[in-house]
Amino acid sequence: MEFHRFARWFRDSSPYIREHRDKVFVILMPSESLRHEILRDIVRDLALLHVLGIKQVLILESTLDNRANHISTIKDLFARGLPSSRYRNQAIPVVEETFDLSAPVHGDANTNHSIAQHRKQVDHIAQTLDQGSIGLIAPTTDSSNRAINYGETINYIATAVALGIEADKLIILHEPASLVNNADVVNSDLSTDAFQALLEQEALEESTYLRMNALLRACQQGINRGHIVSYETEGALLAELFTADGSGTQISTDDYLTIRRAMDTDTDAILDLMKADIDQDRLVPRSREMLSRDSTTIFLAEHDRVPVGCVALYSLEQGMQEIGTLLAAPKHRDRNIGSRLLSQAETEARKRGASHVYVFTKHAVDWFKRHDYLPSNLGALPSANRDAYDDERQSTLLIKEIE
Ligand SMILES: CC(C)(COP(=O)(O)OP(=O)(O)OC[C@H]1O[C@@H](n2cnc3c(N)ncnc32)[C@H](O)[C@@H]1OP(=O)(O)O)[C@@H](O)C(=O)NCCC(=O)NCCS
Repeated sequence: MEFHRFARWFRDSSPYIREHRDKVFVILMPSESLRHEILRDIVRDLALLHVLGIKQVLILESTLDNRANHISTIKDLFARGLPSSRYRNQAIPVVEETFDLSAPVHGDANTNHSIAQHRKQVDHIAQTLDQGSIGLIAPTTDSSNRAINYGETINYIATAVALGIEADKLIILHEPASLVNNADVVNSDLSTDAFQALLEQEALEESTYLRMNALLRACQQGINRGHIVSYETEGALLAELFTADGSGTQISTDDYLTIRRAMDTDTDAILDLMKADIDQDRLVPRSREMLSRDSTTIFLAEHDRVPVGCVALYSLEQGMQEIGTLLAAPKHRDRNIGSRLLSQAETEARKRGASHVYVFTKHAVDWFKRHDYLPSNLGALPSANRDAYDDERQSTLLIKEIE
């Protein structure tokens, strides 16, 4: 194993491990995610979350025919503990909770009235979590009552439980994990308003719409984070929770950031962003013409649609591409924006078949070293790339292998 990669990964992920401890996650699992082979992988990751101290309430979307089978499979899987670890065979207790819906569902779980109506059930679920068990709710609807739509019931319960127990996250397992069909949007990190606008403009299937609407209502009513996470991609849930880039869509009620490919119309904003760092000799000036070249790709980070950072990939030579013009606006530094932009540029370079990326920097040598860039000398660059080097600037060349 390459220790530096492991160490890098561990350093990046451990703050999330700490942040999530003792938090409460409500996870909605649609029937498609309950197929045995998928369920086995999901439960393995949920068991890991449990061992890391995350409290969970699972809500199963299970038809009446499959309900008993799904519940016993889930309990069996959790009874195995955390396979391949010292926690194997240490059963994780799962307590089935009832959530009666004696009153008709009007699709609105957000009134104080509806929360009060379920107070007793919600208190019981909270108690289950405090006792170290996972709460499991698999609602059924009274088939004689045609006024109650099963999809609405499930989503009502997900919202009511998340709000009632004041969960930290409502997570919906869903395929695909993004509602955004626009290839230019790189990170699906949306504010509640942006998520609402998307729901209004996208034509979604009814079941998807109901789930997403539940997520929106929960976020609007006080759940700080909503997530849409793939159930088919192995490890997607862990990547969403423990990496800066995540794997799916995050809906945040507070701070949020999007990263997208810059367009020609963004050039002025990028030149503005660069100005202060050029003045302080932190960045090399780049002409408008160079920023708009076909061989240049720029990613722009926006906070609340305000540009707050950028990075450029200059592709002079396919195998080895230059990363430059990387900056986070001064007020937005130390919020991981630089790291996310860098990782975006590296992903793009990899997609283009590059095996290495390099950067010239004067003031951020240590920062790049933390991202596995190694100091090098000019001889390591192909001649076309070397020609662009400005001797007088005396910046340091750092190279990273990205294969
Ligand atoms: C370098 C830069 C892009 C980092 O962006 P950022 O969003 O602030 O960085 P992140 O939030 O991802 O990382 C922050 C961490 O890096 C550290 N850090 C920030 N700048 C650093 C630097 N120049 N050298 C060493 N460490 C640095 C911070 O102290 C913080 O450390 P922590 O883990 O203890 O919290 C940003 O400081 C910047 O815009 N600098 C000016 C332009 C520049 O020099 N660009 C690079 C040349 S292309």
